[in-house]
Amino acid sequence: MSLPVAVLASGSGSNLQAILDYQATLDAPPWRVELVISDQEDARALERGRRSGIRSRFLQVAGRPSGDVAGETLDLLRSADIGLIALAGYLRLIPADVVGAFRERMVNIHPALLPAFGGKGMYGMRVHEAVLASGARVTGPTVHFVDEEYDRGPIIAQWPVPVRAGDAPHVLAARVLRVEHLLYPRVVDHLGRALARGCRPTPFSPPGTVFLADSRTVADVERAIAAGFVDGIAPALRATEQRT
Ligand code: GRF
Repeated sequence: MSLPVAVLASGSGSNLQAILDYQATLDAPPWRVELVISDQEDARALERGRRSGIRSRFLQVAGRPSGDVAGETLDLLRSADIGLIALAGYLRLIPADVVGAFRERMVNIHPALLPAFGGKGMYGMRVHEAVLASGARVTGPTVHFVDEEYDRGPIIAQWPVPVRAGDAPHVLAARVLRVEHLLYPRVVDHLGRALARGCRPTPFSPPGTVFLADSRTVADVERAIAAGFVDGIAPALRATEQRT
C-alpha cells in the first residue's frame, strides 16, 4: 500500500506538477498524491490536480475562524488517510491543530535559505527582492518541517543557487524555482519512502552541498544539483532515518 500524500497550494502549483511528474517516473511508487487542497477557488494547482485525476478541493479559509478551518482540513486529510503533507506555495498559516496532528509529516518549500528571508509576509517576489537588496551572493530553496510559525520548522534540505550581478527579482525567482522543481519531489520521495516503511525521518543539515560557481550556466547548475542530490544528499537523508 502506498502512502497517501496531500499537497496544499494557493497558486500556480508548479511544484505540485514537479511532484506529480516525478511520481509518474516511479515503478510501484511507495507514496502517491491523493489529495490537493487550495484556499483559492481558481488556483491553477486545483486544475493541475483534477487533470491528473486527483481529488482536488477548494477549502475556504478567508474570513473563517481558525478552528473551523482546522476541523474541515483535518476531516479532508483523514478522509483520504493522508500520511504526508507537502505545502507548495500555500500562503496560509496552518492551524495549530493540524500542525500537531501532522508533526514531522508536513513539509514546506521556501524560495530562500532559511532562517534568512522568511517569516510572515515573506513570500513570492518579496523574498527575492529582499535577497537582492541584502547583497547576498547565494540563495536557494529550503525544505523544512512545518511548525506553528511561518518558515520556522526544522530544516530538511537546502540547495545553493548563485545570485548574479544585475539579477532582476523575477530572473532570480525563476532560477530558484527550477531548483525547487528538482529538490522538492526528491525530498517528498525520501520522506514518503521512510514513512511508508514506518521509519521516522529526522531533519538533517546536508553535508557538503554543491557549491555553484557564479560562472555556471543554469543548465550546469541543474546538472550539478541533480548529481549532487543523488550522490550526496539522498544517502545522507536515508542515514538519518530512525526506525520507530
Ligand atoms: C515557490 O517559489 C515556493 O518556494 C513558494 O511559493 C512558490 C510556489 O510556486 N512557497 P508554485 O505555486 O509551486 O509554482
